[in-house]
Amino acid sequence: MVSRRSVLKALVVLGGLTALGYVYPRYIETNILTVTKLNLDLGLGIRAVHISDTHFASSAYNPDSVVNLIKDLKPDVIFHTGDLITYLNGLETGLDFISKLSEIADVFIVAGNHDHWSGLGSDGLKNRFERIGNVYVLNNEAMEYHGLWVIGVDDPYTYQDDLSKALKHVSNNGRRMLLAHSPQIIDKAVNRVDLILSGHTHGGQIRMPFMDPIWLPLPSKYRKYDYGLFEVEDTLMFVSRGIGTTFLPIRFNCPPEVVSINL
Ligand SMILES: [Fe+2]
Repeated sequence: MVSRRSVLKALVVLGGLTALGYVYPRYIETNILTVTKLNLDLGLGIRAVHISDTHFASSAYNPDSVVNLIKDLKPDVIFHTGDLITYLNGLETGLDFISKLSEIADVFIVAGNHDHWSGLGSDGLKNRFERIGNVYVLNNEAMEYHGLWVIGVDDPYTYQDDLSKALKHVSNNGRRMLLAHSPQIIDKAVNRVDLILSGHTHGGQIRMPFMDPIWLPLPSKYRKYDYGLFEVEDTLMFVSRGIGTTFLPIRFNCPPEVVSINL
């Protein structure tokens, strides 16, 4: 016969596991900031940091912890691949965050779908953020940066990218790196650039062991580009897990990520 004490014990354990199952993905893993190191050796001698999907006003992490971590990495340049904000009430935090990053290094940004859906838009992003010194918002345009062409397209997920326009003034001299919020840019960019930096997927946010992510905001043919480094013909593409969260404020087996890249 099962004793009352055993039932109580089982209930306490079950309650504890349920609480842990909620507390860990909601409050712990969303704050475990990880650093991924990539040695791409494009021969440029540039130390870059790539961040994505900061999602201000819908995320739980402390922006200053990200700034401090990036400062310790001592980058020459910082690339942000979109979804800077989720809601307009995250704009001031976003401005403060980018302003602090610009004191560390030059910052390049492109727009993501949530930057558009928030009402900020890529023009708003440019107008508000380029007032900060050494911050460059690339809306289907390119800039030459120490032997590297930094090309940025507007958000591919909402079909606002125009890579041909962005490449219009890019010469054949120098390496080409493309910032694009969503990896679905790959079909248009393959063999036209050396490297693509992307985000958007959040790595799936919830990755149960031995299973594909439950949900990815990508058309089915692009879902294989969920996270990591891909080599597609002569083009490399890195898709980051990003830092923040949107609709589901949880992460499991998919912590926030800052990427340190030797170019
Ligand atoms: Fe995002």
